[in-house]
Amino acid sequence: MTAQTAKLRVLPPDLKPEYLPKHVAVICDGNGRWAKRRGLPRIMGHKQGVEALKAALRTCNDWGISALTAYAFSTENWKRPQEEVDFLMSLFQVVLRQELREMIKENVRIKFAGDLEALPSSLQKQIYAAMEETKDNPGIQFTVATNYGGRQEILSACRAIASQVEQGLLKADEIDEDVFERHLYTVGVSDPDLLIRTSGEMRISNFLLWQIAYTEIYVTDTLWPDFDRDEFHRALSSYQQRDRRFGKI
Ligand code: IPE
Ligand code: IPE
Ligand code: MG
Repeated sequence: MTAQTAKLRVLPPDLKPEYLPKHVAVICDGNGRWAKRRGLPRIMGHKQGVEALKAALRTCNDWGISALTAYAFSTENWKRPQEEVDFLMSLFQVVLRQELREMIKENVRIKFAGDLEALPSSLQKQIYAAMEETKDNPGIQFTVATNYGGRQEILSACRAIASQVEQGLLKADEIDEDVFERHLYTVGVSDPDLLIRTSGEMRISNFLLWQIAYTEIYVTDTLWPDFDRDEFHRALSSYQQRDRRFGKI
């Protein structure tokens, strides 16, 4: 490692380690526009988006952020042209195959959040194997929201809880936030402290509807494939200027 790369790996001195978000969630948006601006097909934007995601994971690891959740494919993204959906499904498989060893080496705990049953069966197999193989890793928690929809997640939690009530295993008045959270895909992962959305759109697009109740939101016009360490730094600087009150004064 050169002195320059070693320097990049430490937390920039203007960021206070004690006020870093523990969990950062990202809506990785703008891949298509990134490609279009270069006269390239949209899929090239997705390929470059993977590089940005790898870099974001490395940044979190280097700077001591203990969880990263990335929105990779929404329940609404099936409505895209079939070629794009097919490309994304095969991209997930290729990337998982290529990167799993490296993630294991870095002690990453990988989790996929979403309705995984609807994914191609070969991808499902890879996903379950990767989750199983990394589940006890002590490093960063990396959650990939794949075929994820916040409404669908809430409905599936409701169904599971209702079925427990039907079977007499649970009383209706025992349903509280803890019980509910145990039925979400994100069980065991703290709520995000910071949500970053790239490419300027001021919307949530069905991401983590329950979990972002008190999350700080940061929107940047930068397109996801261009979201680098300096951009991450800017998002964290903004976060560190926020006054998180949680309803108090
Ligand atoms: C985000 O980039 C990646 C996925 C939704 C899979 P987009 O593909 O939405 O890019 P834009 O928003 O069309 O630029
Ligand atoms: C959100 O981006 C989903 C992902 C980043 C995977 P979209 O591009 O699908 O969101 P909209 O359509 O702009 O709301
Ligand atoms: Mg988009």
